[in-house]
Amino acid sequence: MNKISCVYLNGEFLPPERAKISAFDRGFIFGDGVYEVIPVFGGRPFRLTHHLSRLERSLSALGIINPLPPEDWEAIFQRLITGHGDADQSIYLQITRGVAERDHSYPENVSPTVFAYAQIMRYPDAATLAKGVSAITLEDIRWQRCDIKAVALLANVMMRQKAVESGSAESILIRDGLLTEGAASNIFIVKNGRLRTPPSNAYILPGITRDLIVELAEANGIQCLQTELTETELMDADEVWMTSSTKEILPVTQLNHKAVGSGVPGPMHAKLYAIYQDYKEAFRQGKVR
Ligand code: PDD
Repeated sequence: MNKISCVYLNGEFLPPERAKISAFDRGFIFGDGVYEVIPVFGGRPFRLTHHLSRLERSLSALGIINPLPPEDWEAIFQRLITGHGDADQSIYLQITRGVAERDHSYPENVSPTVFAYAQIMRYPDAATLAKGVSAITLEDIRWQRCDIKAVALLANVMMRQKAVESGSAESILIRDGLLTEGAASNIFIVKNGRLRTPPSNAYILPGITRDLIVELAEANGIQCLQTELTETELMDADEVWMTSSTKEILPVTQLNHKAVGSGVPGPMHAKLYAIYQDYKEAFRQGKVR
């Protein structure tokens, strides 16, 4: 395990082995909570405002009142980050409804459980980036509120495991013949030089990386169409990418054990990957917020 010497739990900074929660926590009993994964570059959380507003949306969908204002979140993150110096990191933040006697409906007068830690970012290595990864397609067996970043991830866990068992890095999910997203990523495709990604709706998580790629593409004169994509369009694509805060923009070069396009990462990936890295570098140097 990545070395974590300090975690935040309910107001305290503790060594991980001292961080304990009740077995009656509704996160444990029902998966009743939400989370965020926030990258850190140059000692600062990346796209923090975006992550905090997605957190707010997830909490409010569950009727949990955000326990802290943005400046307190920032102060907690800053303290966790400091432990790893300047290294690129990711912050994991989880908020559950809290501890109560087991009953499905929301209990009254409980305080949310708040848990957070930072760890060194583990990027896909250079060889993986150069070659791309393989993915399989699966029927999307999740619920109808995939826009909530809920900790109840059993379907995602099962579907990612199927990918691993077939020697692949990710499962790409299809609902009613349409592409939704990956088990833990958003998906982009390129066909005839045109970049496309499924629209933000209840069937996908509004990825912070996804939204940044759309923004950066457009700022650089590359149109990105947010549109419904069929399984056939996915299978016929010249390029397929998976995106997330920890995987960044990873080319998928094998789909269901067949080559995607020419079987190597494509030119549009090279372009957007470079733009993304430049933007990160500018953030690191404090040139963008
Ligand atoms: N997951 N879709 C799903 C289902 C995800 O779990 C994730 C990220 C994304 C990409 O979102 P973002 O760009 O904001 O990271 C899309 C995180 C990294 C995780 O569960 O570890």
